[in-house]
Amino acid sequence: MPWYKKKHRKSTRLPRDLFDVIVGYEDVKRILLKALKSKKPVHALLAGVPASAKSLFLSEIQRLPSSYFLLGGKTTKAGLAWILSRCKPKYLLIDELDKMPRREMTVLLSLMETGLVKDVKYRKEIEVVLDTKVFAACNRDDAIPAELKSRFYLKFYFKPYSLVEFKEVGTKVLVSREGVKASLASYIVNRVSEFTRDVRVCIGIARIAESKSDVDFIVGSLRKYKKFSWKK
Ligand SMILES: Nc1ncnc2c1ncn2[C@@H]1O[C@H](COP(=O)(O)OP(=O)(O)OP(=O)(O)O)[C@@H](O)[C@H]1O
Ligand SMILES: [Mg+2]
Repeated sequence: MPWYKKKHRKSTRLPRDLFDVIVGYEDVKRILLKALKSKKPVHALLAGVPASAKSLFLSEIQRLPSSYFLLGGKTTKAGLAWILSRCKPKYLLIDELDKMPRREMTVLLSLMETGLVKDVKYRKEIEVVLDTKVFAACNRDDAIPAELKSRFYLKFYFKPYSLVEFKEVGTKVLVSREGVKASLASYIVNRVSEFTRDVRVCIGIARIAESKSDVDFIVGSLRKYKKFSWKK
């Protein structure tokens, strides 16, 4: 059955473990849960540094049966209005919102303000009114027009992790999601924290290192070849 014919559940009951895979951000989780359950639409934007769990938040919301996920830079030829009119999602999830074409942003503007989705596609008029909530993520928000940003009532700008946060997030991700032993996980995270706060580096090392000496060798090499500045 094509995705747009699938019947979505009407209930607002959320899985008990929604957002449990995300380490920290307890306040953001609580607010987003309220937004997911609110009667009237509340839209939220997660912006900020790479590897700060923005996409992870969206993929958790994607577990809800009445959600529709899309990448800003990869909207289909049929267009956002057509997708919305067919799928009528309760939750529209857009990752990399900053890469979304302007034409599609115009559709979003109207959806987020009044719920109206109006367009002409394949010489047919599209016109529906929806109560879709929009949850989006991006790194930088400079490419997003001010009027669209303003329609996200809730905006969260994620900053780089502090050392303490990085150690907690990194270790938990390696142990629970990558199946690494606790002692090796914390060793990897400690060594990585010497030169970056990017959790993906911990994951990369964890996937190939079998021992602490492997970790030392890889970290030594990554530090030797780390990005340099051309400026003197
Ligand atoms: N707080 C966290 N809890 C659990 N996992 C995390 C957390 N922060 C980062 N990660 C891990 O880091 C990796 C990157 O997370 P994610 O893709 O959500 O980042 P992002 O903020 O969307 O980054 P980007 O801006 O590069 O798209 C994932 O493997 C994720 O599990
Ligand atoms: Mg992401």
